[in-house]
Amino acid sequence: MQDFGDNAVATPLRLGVAGLGNVGATLVSILQRDGIELTKKLGRQIVVTAVAARSRSRDRGIDISGLEWFDDPVALAKSENIDLFVELIGGEDGPAYAAVKAALEIGRPVVTANKALLAKHGVSLAKIAEESGAQLGFEAAVAGGIPVIKTLREGLGSASIARVYGIMNGTCNYILTRMGNEDISFAECLRDAQALGYAEADPTFDVEGFDTAHKLSILATLCFGYEIAPDKIQVEGISKITQADIKVAADLGYKIKLLGMALRSEDGIEQRVHPTFVPKTSAIAGVDGVMNAVALETDHVHELLLAGPGAGGPPTASSVLSDILDIARGTRVPPLGVPSQELMPYKQAPARDHDGGFYIRINARDVPGALAAIATRMGERSISIESVIQRPDLRVKDEVIDGPPTRTVVMLTQKTQESAVRESLAQIATDGFIVGEPQLIRIELL
Ligand SMILES: NC(=O)c1ccc[n+]([C@@H]2O[C@H](COP(=O)([O-])OP(=O)(O)OC[C@H]3O[C@@H](n4cnc5c(N)ncnc54)[C@H](OP(=O)(O)O)[C@@H]3O)[C@@H](O)[C@H]2O)c1
Repeated sequence: MQDFGDNAVATPLRLGVAGLGNVGATLVSILQRDGIELTKKLGRQIVVTAVAARSRSRDRGIDISGLEWFDDPVALAKSENIDLFVELIGGEDGPAYAAVKAALEIGRPVVTANKALLAKHGVSLAKIAEESGAQLGFEAAVAGGIPVIKTLREGLGSASIARVYGIMNGTCNYILTRMGNEDISFAECLRDAQALGYAEADPTFDVEGFDTAHKLSILATLCFGYEIAPDKIQVEGISKITQADIKVAADLGYKIKLLGMALRSEDGIEQRVHPTFVPKTSAIAGVDGVMNAVALETDHVHELLLAGPGAGGPPTASSVLSDILDIARGTRVPPLGVPSQELMPYKQAPARDHDGGFYIRINARDVPGALAAIATRMGERSISIESVIQRPDLRVKDEVIDGPPTRTVVMLTQKTQESAVRESLAQIATDGFIVGEPQLIRIELL
């Protein structure tokens, strides 16, 4: 065990850390390096006494020679030689779920960074924790180093929140920022993101919006007091964003961001993840690169924007550590903000008109009357077109085309319902006036 100096007290808090990857190894190294300072702050030692991972021999840049080794994370979670179990394995089921559940069942506090696990099992795990009296911390599960969970659970306890939205995936924000600054495609940016370690070898989970959806579902529960419902989120990623979309957005005073957004109304909850036109002048538009931000709209403090690094070993481990310190200090809050039996069954709000309108990009057949016919179809569903743009530099090539050539046409609509726009585009496609998939992006007047 490390020497913690004069401030060391008789009962150190003994951690068992399962998962020694990016976050787990960073956490162990921070505790080994800053142990003395932390002990001074806390008046109690925090020591890692046991660890679990798959490979015992892998070099992780940390000294684990004095630590008890477990091949099985569940055995570590139940070990009598730890006081707090830290889960940094990942995955919604499997060993992460089994180990967290096992620890909570015996009343052992747990800290995890696992959003997939919480999105799927958060309510049942919170119930187990409340029944056994264990604490469950998951600050690092949403927006990495940004203390948004603590802000919601403790800081804004009395405020009523109407809307939460944010940029919660650094990979997507890096790609969209680079596409906005340089004339390069989504595929090129993704390759760079992978080379820099910002994107996984299989980036689907990030770029198709599912990672943001998991985080949003957790935030929505903390904001509105409904059960976690990741499967009720309309999810669309950024893989179909082109330079044409980025250019039009910039010309009209917008940036494109992948936003997760949840709103509460009397009719229920609406949760969405999709690329969004946001005004260049808005605070969220200034959040670039791998940074994340979460905006909370409340009755008392109006809008609060929390921004910072959303991922990476040190920021994420720092959030894990902040949960550990809270538990060591004896802070007690229900994991999901309210006792789990008080959570309301999820209620999906019906579709509403969208204030900001839509951006639509289509490849229209270059035949007489095509644009007029498209406008008529839109009019049939009460969609008002605000502007139509046709410029050679916005040309997006068709993958497959036979028959008359096409022109890329961009339209902005006024306030309308998304279902009306989609139905109208489907009808226009059936009429034979467009080729390929239309691009449809929400404009948010944030
Ligand atoms: N990385 C980030 O920036 C970030 C940000 C926020 C939240 N998170 C969350 O933090 C968690 C960990 O992420 P990470 O990036 O650190 O992952 P990682 O680098 O892939 O590390 C995962 C660790 O889990 C271990 N592991 C896997 N299966 C295991 C098993 N069956 N038994 C024991 N150990 C097992 C691996 O062991 P081996 O090393 O031996 O293979 C590895 O050490 C995830 O839930 C992730 O979503 C990560």
